[in-house]
Amino acid sequence: ARARGGYADIMRGVNAPDNAEPVRAVSWRDGRLWLLDQRALPERTDYLAYDTAADAAAAIESMVVRGAPAIGIAAAYAAALAAGARARENPEGWRVALAPDFARLAAARPTAVNLAWALARMERRADRAAAAGEPPLPALLDEARSIHEEDVAANLRMGALGAALIERPCAVITHCNTGALATGGHGTALGVVRSAYRAGRVTEVLAGETRPWLQGARLTAWELMREGIPVRLIADSAAAYAMQRGGVGWVVLGADRVAANGDVANKIGTLSLAANARRHGVRFMVVAPSSTVDMAAPDGQAISIEERPPEELVEFAGRPTAPAGARAWNPVFDVTPAALVDALVTERGVAPAPNRARMEEMMGKEPGP
Ligand code: MRU
Repeated sequence: ARARGGYADIMRGVNAPDNAEPVRAVSWRDGRLWLLDQRALPERTDYLAYDTAADAAAAIESMVVRGAPAIGIAAAYAAALAAGARARENPEGWRVALAPDFARLAAARPTAVNLAWALARMERRADRAAAAGEPPLPALLDEARSIHEEDVAANLRMGALGAALIERPCAVITHCNTGALATGGHGTALGVVRSAYRAGRVTEVLAGETRPWLQGARLTAWELMREGIPVRLIADSAAAYAMQRGGVGWVVLGADRVAANGDVANKIGTLSLAANARRHGVRFMVVAPSSTVDMAAPDGQAISIEERPPEELVEFAGRPTAPAGARAWNPVFDVTPAALVDALVTERGVAPAPNRARMEEMMGKEPGP
């Protein structure tokens, strides 16, 4: 086993401005899973503790934790919790008894493939522990920590690769929240923004507010402002005008699932940004770790798109934003065709204008989760 200094070591130097604690969306402390409640930000920084897989699955569903990699990491720790509990109840048959916990966690949200990816990895670790007669909690906890650490390392690598694509100082548009809150730390697209800003290649971030859940307004603005990175919020519908006026060099955003042909499922509104970017000569960069790539999905049509309750659209913070009885449709992701993507950045490298051949070259023959 590798020597570890615990969570502080995973996070050392990661997304921490000199005067502030690093953002920890997901952590393991005192034998419990802790999640920073993203529903309460930016008003409050509340940390909630979890002891069961069912409660952790409900937290993923209700967006206490959100963002593709962070969901996978939280589910991995939750699987470790569940393994510990099942082994206490049933020392001989814990592996079989664990199946409903995996199923419950996998069903929490459908689009981000990091969830299925992390759980598949935890299932394999559980199989090995059961076969070797190892105590399951330490074995699964070790695997969850590896998933967490590898995500931070992938983000740092992607930050460098993506920043190198931004050749001249420019403003960038981002969407949703792809930062430390959405990942193990540092962030995917926001990791690129952080690295590029430090290298003097980002003059300003225009953050789409990201209706209806306001990940951009509530989370991205909060993260960037803590670090002194210049950010202005824009209504999602202001993005095309911002591009038309000039000065925006890149749209930089993340993904919840990338198909084998390079099609990208990401937060609703991404497709509109991609179409507008192409129309206005702005380049479009998707930043996602290989754990977000699903080579088993041949194209975007194979990706299940989550629809959330209409209440997220017709009310905000308990107050109505539409007439009583108004009907609403609330798909929370869309699929951007690979043809609109100028660069896909993973920790394995950059695929310019991704297509099936370039995806296979980057991912090898991996079948996906
Ligand atoms: O509904 P959310 O907030 O979980 O959606 C998150 C996104 O769409 C992000 O862009 C994506 O997960 C990439 S985050 C590194």
